[in-house]
Order: sequence, then C-alpha cells, then structure tokens
Amino acid sequence: AGIATLHQGEIVRRRAVGKLHALAETLNKNPAPGAMGIGHTRWATHGAPTETNAHPHASDRVAVVHNGIIENFRELRDKLSEKGYVFTTETDTETIVALITLKMEQGLAPFDAVFAAMKRLEGAFAICVLFRGADDLLIAARKGAPLAVGYGDGAMYVGSDAIALAPLTEQILYLEEGDCAAITRTGVQLFDLEGAPAHREIVRVPANTVTIDKGEHRHFMAKEIHEQPRAARTVIEAYTAAGEDRFAAPIGEIDLAAIDRLSIVGCGTAFYAGAVSRYWFESLARTPVDIDIASEFRYRDAPMDPRQAALFISQSGETADTLAALRHCRNAGQSVISVVNVGTSSIARESDLALPILAGPEIGVASTKAFTCQMMALMALAALMGREKGALSAESEAMLAQVLRAVPKAMDRALEREADIAAIASEVARSRDVLYLGRGPMYPLALEGALKLKEISYLHAEGFAAGELKHGPIALIADGAPVVVLAPRDALFEKTISNMQEVMARGGRIVLITDEDGARQAGEGVWRTIVMPKIDPIVAPILYALPIQLLAYHGALERGTDVDQPRNLAKSVTVE
Ligand code: G6P
Repeated sequence: AGIATLHQGEIVRRRAVGKLHALAETLNKNPAPGAMGIGHTRWATHGAPTETNAHPHASDRVAVVHNGIIENFRELRDKLSEKGYVFTTETDTETIVALITLKMEQGLAPFDAVFAAMKRLEGAFAICVLFRGADDLLIAARKGAPLAVGYGDGAMYVGSDAIALAPLTEQILYLEEGDCAAITRTGVQLFDLEGAPAHREIVRVPANTVTIDKGEHRHFMAKEIHEQPRAARTVIEAYTAAGEDRFAAPIGEIDLAAIDRLSIVGCGTAFYAGAVSRYWFESLARTPVDIDIASEFRYRDAPMDPRQAALFISQSGETADTLAALRHCRNAGQSVISVVNVGTSSIARESDLALPILAGPEIGVASTKAFTCQMMALMALAALMGREKGALSAESEAMLAQVLRAVPKAMDRALEREADIAAIASEVARSRDVLYLGRGPMYPLALEGALKLKEISYLHAEGFAAGELKHGPIALIADGAPVVVLAPRDALFEKTISNMQEVMARGGRIVLITDEDGARQAGEGVWRTIVMPKIDPIVAPILYALPIQLLAYHGALERGTDVDQPRNLAKSVTVE
C-alpha cells in the first residue's frame, strides 16, 4: 500500500509492504506532508508484492493510483520503452504513468494528457492522478471499475465506493463509464468518453446506510453471520406481498414466462448460491438451467438462444469475470437478469432486471450474509417464474411463502448452537484436510462449506457430491480425517447416510449437520452432530449455510488467521 502527496509542488511518496498498519508505521516515522494526496492498497496482479511494485506509481511529473488491469500493458511497455521511457516496476500500472508523462513532455496539459492516455489503455480500470506543480488538481477516470467523487466541506474526495467516503461526506457523484473528472478543492469538471462536458447527479448516500462498524463482534465476518436472521426478514418482506402468502417483485419488462432456459453465472460464493437455486428453478419453474463459473462461461462459446435468459449473481456487482460474461450475453441479445447487493454497481446498471438482495454492506472478504440473501432472492425469482409459467399452483406458492417466512426464526435458533460448533471447529482445525459431503442442493452447500473453511483458515478442504465419493475421493479418507456431512432429513437422507457410513467404515470422523429426526436416524458411530432446527427441506440450504459459516469462522479463530482479510484474497475482484 502507499500514498503520494503534493508538498510545495513536489510529489512525496511513502509505501510499505504488507497490511495497512505497516504503511501507518512508515508514515509515523516519516510523515508525508501536503494538503492533497492519493493512496491505494494493491492486490498484486503483475509483479510480486514489493515496495517497488506498490502504488502510487510515479514519474517526475505525475503519481497514479489504479484499480483494475491494463490488458495491453506489454505492448504499451515495449512501445514506450522504445520512446525512451525507463520502467522501474513490474506493474501494468506504470504504463499509465509513462503514457501521461510522455504526453505531458509533448506539451499536453494534465487533463488532455490523461484523456489521451485513456484512449490507449485497454482493460478495466479506475485511476486517480496527481501532478507535480498543480496543487489544486486531481484527475480521476473510470472505465470498467467503479469510482465515486465525494463533495466535502472545502474538500473533495475520490473513492472506489461511497462506503469508503461515508465518514467524510454524504454527497456522492458516481462517474459513469468512460468519464474523466478534473477535481479541484471547490468542484468537479466532468467529461464523457468523447471528451464532451458531462453532467452527473450528485446523490445523497446517508452515512448511516453505509456505516461500517463491528458492533459487539470481534470481526465483520462474525457480525455478518449474526445479521442473517434480520437480513433474511428484510428479503422476505421485499419479495412477498404484505399480509399475503404470495411472492412479489418489481420485474419490469421481463417476461418470465417466455424464458425457456436459464444460464446462471457467478464466481465464488455467488456461484454456489446460483448452484443451489438451480434446483429451485428446475422444480418450481420447470425451467432447465445451465450453471457456470463466469470465467469459464465467457470463453466457452456456448450457443446463445434469444429465448434463453442469463442470470448473474454477484454481491459487489463489479466482479470482472461476471461482468465480462454479462456483456457477452447482452451482445448475443439475451435478456440479462442480475441478483446483486450493490444497486449502483456495473452489473446492476447493465442488467435488464436487477434484483437487490438487501443484505447491507458486506465487509468480511468471505461472503456470508450475501450468500443467504442471494439464495432467498433467487428462490423468490424461481417462484415468480413458476407462477408466470403456470408451473407453480397458488397453493404451492402459498406454502413456499410460509416455509420461507419460517427461515429467520430457524436461523436464530441455529445461531444458538455457536458454542457447540466452536468446540467442534477447534478440533477440526487441527486436521490437515477436511472434506464436505452433500447431495442435491446440499452438494453446492458442501462446496461452499469447503470454500469458507479454506479461504479463512487456510486448511485444505474439498466439497464433494456424496454419491461421487466412491469414484475417487474416498481414497483420501484415512484414520481420523474429518468429514462434514450435510444431511437434513429429506428425501435424499438415506442415500447420504449410506455414503457417510462408507466413510466411517474407513476411519473418517463424521461431523453430521442434520435435524433432530436425522440425528436419531443416523445410527451409531457419528463423531459429532450439529443439530439444526427442523425446517422444510426446500429452504434447508439457506439455513444450513449458517453452521458451515460458523465452523469456518471458529476454525480460523483457532488457527489465528486474519478472518476479515485473509491472505491473497480481495473482496471485490475487478480483474479477469
Ligand atoms: C471474491 C470474494 C468471494 C466472492 C467472489 C464473488 O473472490 O472473496 O467471497 O464470493 O469474489 O464476488 P461477487 O461480488 O461477484 O459476489
């Protein structure tokens, strides 16, 4: 991470390797004077995380911070080196510095130099630039990555999100694609992609809607896990008609009945929410579903039928792979639906229909409440589609609304099991590998359980479809290997339990997550059981997300890892 300030017209830089406190220590020892500055925490894409590769990158004329990726950086680097520019880092960002510097050496004014540079850059980026000798000018530009300008009292701010600016101002202007802004202490001059003056509304983003604190919790992740019952109530209120057992949502122009096939696309946890929802779209709306990881979908040349709709799931709404897949589908003429947490995001804005998940800001890198809220919004969409298609009767719809309304209370009760789960987690955390098994909608939950554990505790974990175990993964089972089995007492219970027994016979230690009936019927030999409240199987994936989150959280506590900011990961991945 690093900052650059302007002091008596000169650029001052301080940078440090590691977490932000390392930069804070550097600044304590060696302050950076000045009344304006830029800063950035880098997620290494090109070159190792060293001080040299840290932002801001600078020449003798400009300093630049950059979020995103410059895809044609190699080509630019070669050309600019030929012109005599000497590169000192391994980063793609330095090509931006070089382009602007060379343009200024040719006599262009700061704004024109940035604008000219932007035209040469391919990829997705948000940048902010400060200039030697210009102590009342910052230039900010966006192409593919979000950027917000905040209006303060005698001060102006730029950030990648209103959340970052919340402690400073509530008056926010969001740059649009291709916008370039010249910012002084008193205001902003905006230009669009073509260089024509542009006007964007200043919107009020009340600080309390984006206030970020951990409350009584040690970590954002813990707070967000515990917020789930409340968040779930909010989603249910938004997606059902008040006082009626009926689903309702503003679906705009989209004709859900006309959708013959659905492609569901996302990354990480959002992808797993989509994978759970596949079961609902198929059973409630009788609609065939393709489900794909965004980075795979985008490049596999799938046939695109206009009667097929594409559904994108993303907490941030800025994930580069998901956004690229969305644009791919749009260009092919498909209807684009998204399920997003950030309503102002690129994915939301570029969708024909953007359904909010209303989870509130999610700060912990590992997604928790967004996952459960995504699943609930997706279930509502599946129910609406089922109704529109005549596949879901009014009685079934009413029953579904009722079982969904039972979820928040069940979540409250699931959270009461935290101490038991923590005790199990502390034992599991001593193992080398942990496996997760599930069938049907519990299969994506097994994948999500393994992802949660590996991303925050750095333990090796894998999720499998319970039935697939004997086709290879069972070779991993050795004495004492913990195997988490997700098995509510549903139609697939007996099958999963047989697979569980196969694991026990080979010395695996079973952590069974089930309900009271399941616990009774599971038989002897289960090492630990986590008993969930009884709930209709169709909504069980939403409820069973909680124990796997708590298991990962307490496993990470036991191992002393950085729960909210695990190594190597980023909350919003804006590079492909
Ligand atoms: C990152 C986060 C994950 C998240 C994924 C997709 O990798 O660490 O927690 O699931 O991105 O993010 P999105 O914002 O698109 O849901």
